[in-house]
Amino acid sequence: MCGIVGYVGKQKAAAIILDGLKRLEYRGYDSAGMCVLQGGRLDVAKKAGRVEDLVEEIARHRFSGTTGIGHTRWATHGGVTDANAHPHVSSDGRFALIHNGVIENYAQIKTFLAGNGYGFKSETDSEVLCNLIAYHYAKEPAGGEGTSCFLESVRKALGHVEGTYGIAVLCADSPGEIVAARKASPLLLGVGDGEYLLASDASALISRTKNVVYLKDGELVHVTPGAFSISTLDQADVSPVVDRITWSITDAEKGAHAHFMEKEIFEQPLALENTMRGRFSEDGSTAVFGGLNVTAAELRQIDRFLFCACGTAWHACLVTEHLIERFARVPVEVDYASEFRYRNTPLHPNTLFWVISQSGETIDTLAALREAKRKGYRALAINNVVGSTLAREADGGIYQHVGPEIGVASTKAFTSQLMVGAMIALYVARMRDMSFSDGVSYVTALKRAPDLVRKALEQAPHIKAIAKRFAPYNDMLFLGRLSLFPLALEGALKLKEISYIHAEGYPAAEMKHGPIALISEKCPSVFFAPSGEIFNKIVSSMQEIKARQGPIIAIVTEGSELPPGLADEVITFPECHEAVLPIVAAIPVQLLSYYIAVERGCDVDKPRNLAKSVTVE
Ligand code: G6P
Repeated sequence: MCGIVGYVGKQKAAAIILDGLKRLEYRGYDSAGMCVLQGGRLDVAKKAGRVEDLVEEIARHRFSGTTGIGHTRWATHGGVTDANAHPHVSSDGRFALIHNGVIENYAQIKTFLAGNGYGFKSETDSEVLCNLIAYHYAKEPAGGEGTSCFLESVRKALGHVEGTYGIAVLCADSPGEIVAARKASPLLLGVGDGEYLLASDASALISRTKNVVYLKDGELVHVTPGAFSISTLDQADVSPVVDRITWSITDAEKGAHAHFMEKEIFEQPLALENTMRGRFSEDGSTAVFGGLNVTAAELRQIDRFLFCACGTAWHACLVTEHLIERFARVPVEVDYASEFRYRNTPLHPNTLFWVISQSGETIDTLAALREAKRKGYRALAINNVVGSTLAREADGGIYQHVGPEIGVASTKAFTSQLMVGAMIALYVARMRDMSFSDGVSYVTALKRAPDLVRKALEQAPHIKAIAKRFAPYNDMLFLGRLSLFPLALEGALKLKEISYIHAEGYPAAEMKHGPIALISEKCPSVFFAPSGEIFNKIVSSMQEIKARQGPIIAIVTEGSELPPGLADEVITFPECHEAVLPIVAAIPVQLLSYYIAVERGCDVDKPRNLAKSVTVE
């Protein structure tokens, strides 16, 4: 989704902002632009298309100013055009603004401003906000002794808008200053050496500083040369807390890998180790979590869990549901966050509410968390981004600790969420019926997960060859049962996200109630067939596909024997504990979709129309 960068310091702003914009590309966008304040003028370069399309435009402008803002836009109001790209400049030329989010009452404000002589060059809601700031600036000079007219005009304008925003604003009369504010869109201030940066995402500023202030909803920051101050919409001063980012710039770079997605797939053994680190009891029989803020006694009173999320994280909820119900025997419900927020579902009073979100900024997931809290439920979050909005608003939770995930298609964040889910299942199970020795075996199994994933990754060259063969198909089914049914959903999602092949995930036995109508030599099926009690049932489903000439890729446990000729291709993964199975089984489908997308020449890290974190409804 949209990205924000801002710079105030002694260096030329343009190069720093351009670097920030490149680092924000992964979030998904369709236009980019920047504005530099120089010689009392707001000079803007913006273009529909990629950041690389903007580079030439920037060169033409010969930017030399040391104050600037930059933006990557993901269209909501108005098509993908140069005019709709940000920054927007107010019609009096005084203000430039970049905006993430949606101004819901923009039409009303636009009519008002048009009646007051303000003109519009774009179809965006953001330009309306920019002109509204200009209107307040022109109408009411400084708010009083010691107050900044620039800051107060932004504050007043924000008092009139409904909706969500992360904004950064420049004023032609205030060189060396930026005013920025947030409501439901992430925004961080980087406190560098003699310079300040603003960003919607730490990856855009980490090359210059690791010291950051995470702004809260309803806060404004005013950056002036050599200082900054934070206040609320109601003009109350806020004492800033400067946090330190724990990961480094190399974590957000591809290194020798062709794509971030490839890097992140191969990083999974290490990511899983990081997720588990320090989270097992000394006696090795259960999990321990530092930040749940729920005592063991309270947790024992919980009768059911409700998990909400979106996209891949929703699949992680489904696996977690299976593991908690299987091992802890506590009922679990899973809902799409976007449905839960409006569904007004009846909840059992002793429900513990959870959300899962890699970014911690997905607006529907945040809204679900807020709704659960409004209803008085304790709400916990599983999240990867330290300091994210979700992490700050949840009553407690578990950080995934896998470092930045840049590829739009989630991989290492997903398997780490599965690991956290498996650990929660263990923790709750040990409070109830799971014995000490079963707990020890479970922990031992989880600790082996990184090695098993390494083993599964060894199949990469074989899967690459399979991908070559299957890349030309236009439809594919993914089929699995029990804890691997969500993996079938995830396999199908991964494939469609990055290769644009139509794919569906289904419970293997349900296939005969509909999808079987699609089966022909043109529609391959990917089957998860782990060893165990339902292996033979899955083989029967495969036979039904084979009888209709459907090609089959079978993903099976090492050493399993399939009837000769049943599968066209076989991928194996190592034998593992039930709690680890979904993690290990994720590897073949991640690799398959990655290599198919590469084979089809797709832009794997920046798939069309998708965004890494969806901050609009
Ligand atoms: C977007 C991404 C998905 C992701 C989903 C939820 O749709 O493209 O990869 O799974 O958002 O994101 P979250 O950050 O909440 O896990």
